[in-house]
Amino acid sequence: NHYVAIMAGGIGSRFWPQSRVGYPKQFLDILNTGKSLIQWTFERYAAFIPKENIYVVTAAEYSHICEEQLPDIPKENIIAEPSRKNTAPCVAYITFKLKQQNPNASLIVAPSDHMIMDTDTFRNISLKALNFVDQNNAFVTLGIQPTYPNTGYGYIQFDQQNDAGDGIFKVKTFTEKPSLEIAKSFLESGDFLWNGGIFIWKAADVVEAFEKYDTDTFELFDAEKENLNTPNEKEAIDRIYPLCKNVAIDVAIMEKAQNVYVIPSSFGWSDLGTWTSAYDNLEKDALGNAVASDNTIIIDATKCMISAPSDKLLVLQGLDDFVVIDTKDALMICKKEKEQAIKEYVAEVKRTK
Ligand code: GDD
Ligand code: MG
Repeated sequence: NHYVAIMAGGIGSRFWPQSRVGYPKQFLDILNTGKSLIQWTFERYAAFIPKENIYVVTAAEYSHICEEQLPDIPKENIIAEPSRKNTAPCVAYITFKLKQQNPNASLIVAPSDHMIMDTDTFRNISLKALNFVDQNNAFVTLGIQPTYPNTGYGYIQFDQQNDAGDGIFKVKTFTEKPSLEIAKSFLESGDFLWNGGIFIWKAADVVEAFEKYDTDTFELFDAEKENLNTPNEKEAIDRIYPLCKNVAIDVAIMEKAQNVYVIPSSFGWSDLGTWTSAYDNLEKDALGNAVASDNTIIIDATKCMISAPSDKLLVLQGLDDFVVIDTKDALMICKKEKEQAIKEYVAEVKRTK
């Protein structure tokens, strides 16, 4: 009854210009590890979930990349979305589909672009969460100890006195991507964790939550549920998607649901969401520069994240705390502290191109 759905339809815009709409970061080996982020993600789950039960939900244009990079996943488990509508429709699609196949299905919904170092601990925590949701109507999140007021994450406030069993705590509030001011106050208060972006729940319970908290999405999928897992599925999905709101699951469901739990987790998690997170994970030189390039001359620069193609010489002087990313056809130089705004810069690129 246990499944995994890897979400792989994002465009990784905060990783521009290396991550491109045509080939986004989940398919790249950002940290030079020999495998792409989605390949690591698949391996992490294949260690304890049968391959036939591992699904990938992605934008139609990335299906072939998923097939190429994940040859061990059955082709029919690579699910294509006709348009990008953020993660709520993606979760609705896979949970309606799995519920239809198996009314007792429990699943892990996972991002495709994270690093997790301690895979044994991760597996134990995942199995504990799956067993818990088999028994309870509970949405289990994995909480990461925050280290600074990052505004790109969800924040989970939990009740440290309320252990529902074996380190699974009842959540009081879930706040997606707060302002810097609010993030700072969360950090000071001490009872907040970062949302790791991984959700463990029963498919039937998620469907029920859509009915309660995101009725529009519920009705769209509910009207077509008989067509899922039949030859009519693609047509049905093509009808549904243009009508779906573009909204994250964190906002559509997690902020509203009353049955949220968290397992405070420490397994070497890092969200490779921005260049700073890559910076944090890379080795640094004596002046604190992380250099993902072997053809670079750096003079008097400190704490920079630098990446360039190996056939291009990059010379950098005098920059402190900058992200400098060069690719074949685009160069970005951006203050590290402004990197959450890279999304907006990329939108600007699209307008002017
Ligand atoms: N199939 C599909 N369709 N996948 C998508 C879509 C979509 O339209 N949009 C995004 N994804 C995938 C991304 O590729 C990524 O693997 C995952 O869903 C999460 O999306 P992000 O866009 O990376 O979310 P986020 O990082 O801003 O925020 C989420 O993750 C944080 C931790 O990394 C939230 O859950 C936060 O609360 C959390 O802290
Ligand atoms: Mg992310």
